[in-house]
Amino acid sequence: MNGVRWGIVGAGSIAGSVAGDFQFVPGAALVAIASRTQEKADAFADRHGIPKAFGNYRSLLESPDVDAVYIATPHPQHRDVALAAIANGKHVLVEKAFTATLAGAQQVVDAARAKGVFAMEALWTRFLPVVAAAREVVAWGRIGDVVAVQGDLYAHREFEAGNRLFEPELGGGAILDLGVYLVNLAQMFLGDVKSIDCMTRLFPNGVEKAAAITLAHTAHGLSSLTCGFDGPGPGRMLVVGTKGWIEIEPRFHHPSVITIHRPGVLPRVIEAAPSGRGYSHEFAEATKRISEGATESPTMPLSDTLEVMRVLEACLRQAGIYRKDATVEGLR
Ligand SMILES: NC(=O)c1ccc[n+]([C@@H]2O[C@H](COP(=O)([O-])OP(=O)(O)OC[C@H]3O[C@@H](n4cnc5c(N)ncnc54)[C@H](OP(=O)(O)O)[C@@H]3O)[C@@H](O)[C@H]2O)c1
Repeated sequence: MNGVRWGIVGAGSIAGSVAGDFQFVPGAALVAIASRTQEKADAFADRHGIPKAFGNYRSLLESPDVDAVYIATPHPQHRDVALAAIANGKHVLVEKAFTATLAGAQQVVDAARAKGVFAMEALWTRFLPVVAAAREVVAWGRIGDVVAVQGDLYAHREFEAGNRLFEPELGGGAILDLGVYLVNLAQMFLGDVKSIDCMTRLFPNGVEKAAAITLAHTAHGLSSLTCGFDGPGPGRMLVVGTKGWIEIEPRFHHPSVITIHRPGVLPRVIEAAPSGRGYSHEFAEATKRISEGATESPTMPLSDTLEVMRVLEACLRQAGIYRKDATVEGLR
């Protein structure tokens, strides 16, 4: 394949943040945007210098000028947009949380595998240079066997009706929006999970304001993770091993510094700024894999996404919360 032509579905906040990062992605071109209204698509295209603007999602998903689709809608819409993209033979990069439900995630994974297209969750953190460095430090055995992951992710937000962060039908709540980063990295360092304990505080409309998640991992190790909209919080992560620990400096979901601590040894700091706003790395990975004809990324494989979705859904269920994937008009 001679370069990958990307289209974005959903002209919202994250779409605007990632659009400028395409200039840092070798072999990728951002060629199209789709919005539910033509005016919004046109304005987004003008703002970001994108050649094609579609006033509905279907036209982009059927366009022969698009190879791969980045899905930037609220979580409940991810499933239907991804399924329609895959049905049209497009590769997909799906924002986190991958879907609103485990069943929806499984449908997308099954469809992508059946069609033989590339699919990946856009969990940008895994691709940032210092997170890659942390994985290498662990692989070299510098902190021994990983036995614990501790992390917090707070983002202070006042409740606002209609905002996707607080609306049940838009997949609102701290677990799918913030907890996803914590569980994802805990799963990356410690593997799959055998038991899950989640305590939550809820807004009056029943959406989680904050969550404290404890995981026992299947192989060994424990994770202790907290997130919420009710305070600012540092956003720090510690990866604890039998011979030392790594601090992923705040904010851990888009870090540029890690510090390696070992008893009796001066702390070692590794610093590497991401290129652009940090989203370029996940697009570089997806673009490279698509160009090579791969259907998954070994750094963010679909099996990990399914495991993370299983954990997040179990956390929600413990709070009595049942999310749903939405039907997106015009795609089925
Ligand atoms: N990786 C990151 O750093 C990061 C950061 C923020 C968000 N995210 C993820 O990106 C996704 C979008 O988040 P966002 O903050 O960009 O949300 P947002 O600003 O609300 O934008 C979402 C867009 O989705 C489209 N959409 C489709 N159906 C919709 C519906 N029923 N209601 C509202 N919007 C609908 C809209 O675009 P049109 O009107 O153009 O169709 C809307 O602008 C979420 O899954 C979120 O978790 C990731």
